[in-house]
Amino acid sequence: MADKGQVAWRWAACATLACVTSASAQNTVVGKYNGPGGCASSSCHGSIQPKQITHVAQNEYSIWAGQDKHARAYQVLSNDVSVRMARILNLKSPPNQNQKCLACHALAVAPEMRAQSFDISDGVSCEHCHGPAAGWLGPHTVKDWETRTAEQKAQLGMRDLRDLAIRSHTCLHCHVGTEEQSVDHQMIAAGHPDLTFELNLFSAVMPRHWKDSDEASWFGTKEWAVGQGMQLRDSLQRLARRARSSTWPEYAELDCFACHHSLTAPKDSWRQEVGYAGRTPGVPAWNASRFVVFRYAAAETDAATADKLESELATLSGLMGQLSGDREQIAASAERAAELAHSLAGALNGRSYDQAFTLRVMRKITGDASAISQHGQRAAGQAAMSLDSLFGVYKKNTKDPAEAEIRAAINGLFQQLDDPSAYNAPRFAAQMQKVSALLSEQKGSH
Ligand code: HEC
Ligand code: HEC
Ligand code: HEC
Ligand code: HEC
Repeated sequence: MADKGQVAWRWAACATLACVTSASAQNTVVGKYNGPGGCASSSCHGSIQPKQITHVAQNEYSIWAGQDKHARAYQVLSNDVSVRMARILNLKSPPNQNQKCLACHALAVAPEMRAQSFDISDGVSCEHCHGPAAGWLGPHTVKDWETRTAEQKAQLGMRDLRDLAIRSHTCLHCHVGTEEQSVDHQMIAAGHPDLTFELNLFSAVMPRHWKDSDEASWFGTKEWAVGQGMQLRDSLQRLARRARSSTWPEYAELDCFACHHSLTAPKDSWRQEVGYAGRTPGVPAWNASRFVVFRYAAAETDAATADKLESELATLSGLMGQLSGDREQIAASAERAAELAHSLAGALNGRSYDQAFTLRVMRKITGDASAISQHGQRAAGQAAMSLDSLFGVYKKNTKDPAEAEIRAAINGLFQQLDDPSAYNAPRFAAQMQKVSALLSEQKGSH
């Protein structure tokens, strides 16, 4: 199956994001993929207990194999949901042999890229994220390895995941998608989960097999901010691709619960109460979830570019909110917005973070309760995940008497999301206002 899907993983020889996203890098072949077996020995990364010999704990394989869902990503392709999905989608081969699924659930690289030890059933394994190991497996165990620069390591195929823009983009390959790896509404309607993501939270859930603790205490805020920017960028690029493709309109780019909510009597409808500003009544809105919280990190960092992004996205959502918005205009606008998001993600990757920034962004998000909640269930979900992440960072660094209360109020946000079809914007906003009131009592800059 030497098809296009196999190109995407060839950008390993890159230490900068510009390189990662350039077309030429995608054709760079650095070395073969070995599979995770080569990392599994207890003297390498397969220790059960964390070790203290080097800064690497050496139990990474054990964490991945024992706790990380990525290790089972191939196996899920033979479960009942997958088999039914294949039937509904009329796939010509079983999901665990089909590139449409293998593209994200296994290391589906071309045969000539597979070393002898390679095994497709290993799912999403070390080299998916770290880059093909054949070129660096030997060198990276030698003492002088840590003296090499990220560029030198990248030349051997190891991706620089300490760079948060590259790290997020790596996750987003599968958690948002690329040209060759796609989850669309057809697949969702057939049973695939919708793709939602938040770097800081998902890294914790994964669970992390590394420590970022040698970085500043506010590293988690940076992870959140850069992750949001990259997520917006990559999803806008996806929107541009889809607007130009044969399957447009693509429902997965719209607010899911504009269509999937339950109906009420007119007097009880918060949607009718709010109205349909900027779009034709009854036309589902663009899914703004990847923007509604990011905008505050952006405005704090580069106000001029953030303003341009605001106005470009107003144009885009206006075009999306018409029954037959012009596809080419949509694609062009999404591309312009993606450029701006790229530049903002870069700025966020370069700046420093502290308590004041973290608190200010949490306050701005909660202060915008009513607008965010009206963008729908997915936008509310990003706000809840973001507050969860940011408050997690905040409380790690700040002793706070109201900690338990704030935590409970944030958990209350997630409860509002439990039944998405019954999602109610005013109720979500009211809960956000509780968080807002508690946060405004915190000391720290306003
Ligand atoms: C763009 C990448 C991508 C493609 C292509 C893809 N998936 Fe997935 N899949 C994911 C991600 C990411 C998740 C985890 C989503 C989450 O929980 O946030 C997932 C989750 C799933 C789950 C739920 C797993 C669980 O633990 O409950 C099933 C089942 C599944 N995928 C089957 C398939 C099948 C079958 C195909 C092919 C028809 C496919 N996937 C194609 C990325 C992809
Ligand atoms: C889903 C992506 C992903 C997978 C799969 C993955 N890693 Fe990682 N790994 C990361 C990220 C992100 C980091 C943090 C960045 C860093 O420290 O390089 C990391 C860090 C590490 C580190 C610490 C590096 C350092 O210098 O501190 C080691 C060692 C490691 N991973 C080994 C492994 C091994 C072995 C496997 C397979 C058994 C694996 N990883 C699978 C994403 C992944
Ligand atoms: C090669 C594709 C791929 C890459 C790269 C990838 N993931 Fe995943 N991820 C998946 C798939 C497929 C699943 C679903 C696995 C399953 O349910 O068994 C998944 C599941 C997850 C889950 C579990 C979600 C849930 O609902 O429980 C988390 C958390 C996660 N990924 C985080 C990350 C992070 C963080 C990164 C980057 C450091 C990353 N992933 C990179 C494909 C990928
Ligand atoms: C423009 C309207 C529209 C939008 C937006 C939309 N869908 Fe759908 N969806 C539909 C229709 C129509 C069906 C087919 C329902 C049927 O045949 O009963 C469907 C089917 C589904 C199904 C399978 C039906 C079921 O009962 O299990 C799921 C799951 C689903 N959509 C999820 C989503 C998600 C998640 C999103 C956002 C990423 C989304 N949809 C966006 C209109 C929409």
